[in-house]
Amino acid sequence: MSLRIGDTAPNFTIPTTKGEITFHDWIGDSWVFFFSHPADFTPVCTTEMGRTAQLSQEFINHNTKPLGLSTDTVEEHIKWIDDVNDTQDTDLAFPIVADADHKVAQLYDMIHPGESETAAVRSVFIIDPNKRIRLTMTYPMSVGRNFDEILRVIDALQTGDKYKIATPADWLPGGKVIIPPSVTNEQARTQFPQGWDEVRPYLRFTEVK
Ligand code: BEZ
Repeated sequence: MSLRIGDTAPNFTIPTTKGEITFHDWIGDSWVFFFSHPADFTPVCTTEMGRTAQLSQEFINHNTKPLGLSTDTVEEHIKWIDDVNDTQDTDLAFPIVADADHKVAQLYDMIHPGESETAAVRSVFIIDPNKRIRLTMTYPMSVGRNFDEILRVIDALQTGDKYKIATPADWLPGGKVIIPPSVTNEQARTQFPQGWDEVRPYLRFTEVK
């Protein structure tokens, strides 16, 4: 069965380009952006790895560790990283899991046989410091992911946790947020002393810093 939001992210021990990791220990107190790729030395994957490396300071700012995965060996990954750095003008420093025997890809349901029997699709798992899966996204092999969206959803999740709010369609950091319907107006007066704009009793917007 596939993994769901709210599940504990399955633990595993695996070689990576930064040495062997045991996933839960490696997570520590960080959030994780765990993302899979079909194969090394492929064009879309190369741009995605490069983009993640270029955004390394943004991931640090969000207390989030990127962890890549593809179903090749550490040696192949290390050669590929040289290419990524050369072609994407970056310095890739995050680990890439070497999942040559598909152990983790199977555990995380990253192989979708209708797309490929052997290579992983573009799965995304955002995992919080409690090791809970907070978001999943799955892209086909032919479509590169939008990294602004990945950072945006991490921001939305972290802002939601901090202020106990939800975020509206197309929310961007700094934008108005939603008071969840489970919060009564009486509770909201304590929780949101800055007040709110009540468009409908179930649709209340407020601002958080
Ligand atoms: C790519 O990364 O470019 C790619 C990999 C597998 C299938 C299609 C595209």
